Amino acid sequence: MTVREMQDEIIRLKKENDICILAHTYQRHDVLEVADFVGDSFALSQKAAKAPHSTVLMCGVRFMAETVKILSPDKKVLLSDGNAGCPMAEQMDKQTLIRLKKQNPDYTVVAYINTTSELKTECDVCVTSSSAVKIIKQLPAKNILFIPDPNLGQYVRKQCPDKNFLFVEGGCPTHYSMTAEEVKQALSLHPNALLLVHPECSPEVTELAHFAGSTSEIMDYAKNSNAKEFIIGTENSITEHLSFELPQKRFYPLSKNCICHNMQLTTLATVYSCVNGTGGEEIELDELTMQGAKRCIDKMLRLG
Ligand code: 13P
Ligand code: SF4
Repeated sequence: MTVREMQDEIIRLKKENDICILAHTYQRHDVLEVADFVGDSFALSQKAAKAPHSTVLMCGVRFMAETVKILSPDKKVLLSDGNAGCPMAEQMDKQTLIRLKKQNPDYTVVAYINTTSELKTECDVCVTSSSAVKIIKQLPAKNILFIPDPNLGQYVRKQCPDKNFLFVEGGCPTHYSMTAEEVKQALSLHPNALLLVHPECSPEVTELAHFAGSTSEIMDYAKNSNAKEFIIGTENSITEHLSFELPQKRFYPLSKNCICHNMQLTTLATVYSCVNGTGGEEIELDELTMQGAKRCIDKMLRLG
């Protein structure tokens, strides 16, 4: 089967089987082409609550599919590849968080959405990279325990100077390995380029950036900017999507190694096997976890 034939078959099968395909922006181009909706984590969770279909296929990583299940408990929710986890989301376990809460009783727990549902049951509110500042500013609490990404946390702290933040060790292995040295090299090779990065990058990288934002915000910034060249400090799929969408502009990856192998587990063939009923993993969560995690996801959607 050619790529085009497989895409046509996926489109036919998703209609026949009443499946909505949601795809994170880090997915491959040929997958994005068959999706009903493409977006960053926040936009995907908004869509998840509204899709009228009986089945939702999430092309992304596990915490994204869990969010869909929590917001649409009566739907069948499939994760495109059962091995696609987010290493950052799995860095902290529930017992560690319970201990941290005991040690810091006057702190409100804000969880990046890149966390397991089990962990979310112990949190006060969720945020995504595009909604974190807006949501935290609205919280009456002054003391914020921000888990699990200290890099996103420090980016938020700069914009919420009246709050006290507490962070834990961790972060995204795809993003935190990029260095200020790589920024210097990239900028000396492309002196007219603007540096656009995800706030999961380390503070030394984010501080040198012309813009920091979520995956969709980075893409929107490049589309709306008058600049002609950009260095992209996030998963390299974004560099590829932008090069494809804006052929008159030039996009360079900040690092050739900025690849999220979990996100890239999903291929067009994976999507095909999901819509023909032979692939994917159906997400199942127990009632208590769903209720506990829903509280902080709902709060995110309300405030974000
Ligand atoms: P966005 O919310 O920006 O899409 O980020 C999700 C993510 O996992 C980035 O690594
Ligand atoms: Fe998780 Fe990082 Fe991959 Fe995003 S890029 S899904 S934070 S491992």
